[in-house]
Amino acid sequence: MADVTLTNVNKIYGEGPSAVHAVQDLNLKIDDGEFVALLGPSGCGKTSTLRMIVGLESISSGSVHFDDRNVSALEPQDRNVAMAFETYALYPNFTVEQNLAFPLEVRGFSADEQKKRAQNVAELLRITDLLDAYPPALSGGQQQRVSLGRALIREPDVFILDEVMSHLDAHLKFQMLFDLKRLHRELGRTMIYVTHDQVEALALSDRVAVMSNARLQQVGDRNTLYNAPANVFVADFIGEPPTNFFQAQAVESDGDLRLAVDDAKFTLHLSEKTRAAVKAHGGARFIAGIRPQNLTPATASDATSGQTTATLSAKVSINEYLGERSILTAHRGPVSFRALAPPETRSAPDEIVELAYDPANVMVFDPETEDLVH
Ligand SMILES: Nc1ncnc2c1ncn2[C@@H]1O[C@H](COP(=O)(O)OP(=O)(O)O)[C@@H](O)[C@H]1O
Ligand SMILES: [Mg+2]
Repeated sequence: MADVTLTNVNKIYGEGPSAVHAVQDLNLKIDDGEFVALLGPSGCGKTSTLRMIVGLESISSGSVHFDDRNVSALEPQDRNVAMAFETYALYPNFTVEQNLAFPLEVRGFSADEQKKRAQNVAELLRITDLLDAYPPALSGGQQQRVSLGRALIREPDVFILDEVMSHLDAHLKFQMLFDLKRLHRELGRTMIYVTHDQVEALALSDRVAVMSNARLQQVGDRNTLYNAPANVFVADFIGEPPTNFFQAQAVESDGDLRLAVDDAKFTLHLSEKTRAAVKAHGGARFIAGIRPQNLTPATASDATSGQTTATLSAKVSINEYLGERSILTAHRGPVSFRALAPPETRSAPDEIVELAYDPANVMVFDPETEDLVH
């Protein structure tokens, strides 16, 4: 087993004006036995990063270490890392067992060892009853398991999965998420899981590395990404429905610093810590963010609970009932935003509702850098 350290890693495809800088100055350390997800929209550089870790793509500059070993110049077969892809690429004329054992066969393992390991991996992935079947007879989910098994059978130090669930349907995905988590617990191996789907990333991993536009934006556990996003991109990308953002101006009256939302005739209250950070920052213009989860219809109990809530009234135009919750689309003048409500919430079209929030949940970003102020 091994930890993985990327130091100032860059990937540039091609040369001259048509060159693509696919990964920029990436620094990331993945601990031994850790499960890290690399999350970001399509084209942000995830696969390029993985391929450099595996050795399928050269590193333009920087280095990759497994423990203290610089593997940057090593061939894939000398790195003891395995990768499973979105496409299964199984051999249709081989049985599942032969497909599983293939990586061992090409490395000259004995027939007994091949059989033993194929059996073990099949048990781990719960496909023992499929060992004699041929891939074309298997469902997508079963083929994906065989493909994972084939990557695992070499017992790699580092196990990498690239968008392996992208074309499984929701139900199979859920099962696979559960299995991957169990697999990680049982194997204790360093795993890197690449996806553009935040639900998968957050459900599976110890930490999530968020990438955008060839750059790492933030690495953290789900609480950190959710409650202290490093910038507007992370606040927007993590969480569903996404964060509401407001262009706003700092205003101070009676010693209380608030953010007045442009064109909307309301001000957002801030916590004491945020006020201090906004003052220290010194600017006048900010981007305020509040998650729909933290903006909910006020109830009588809010007023008496003694919690530090603030309220804001808004006109509700849409009430999307989603079973376990309702998403309200609310307006103040030309500014619209979303709030979450209990599923039983009923609102007449254009009804004015009182929405409550805790000022501590108002996030403030610098409008130029888009970095979190507090
Ligand atoms: N072999 C290649 N040659 C040229 N450009 C590439 C190559 N592979 C990827 N790219 C480009 O690099 C960027 C990052 O791609 P990729 O790493 O595949 O992103 P992701 O996996 O996050 O979707 C994209 O702009 C993509 O078009
Ligand atoms: Mg990719």
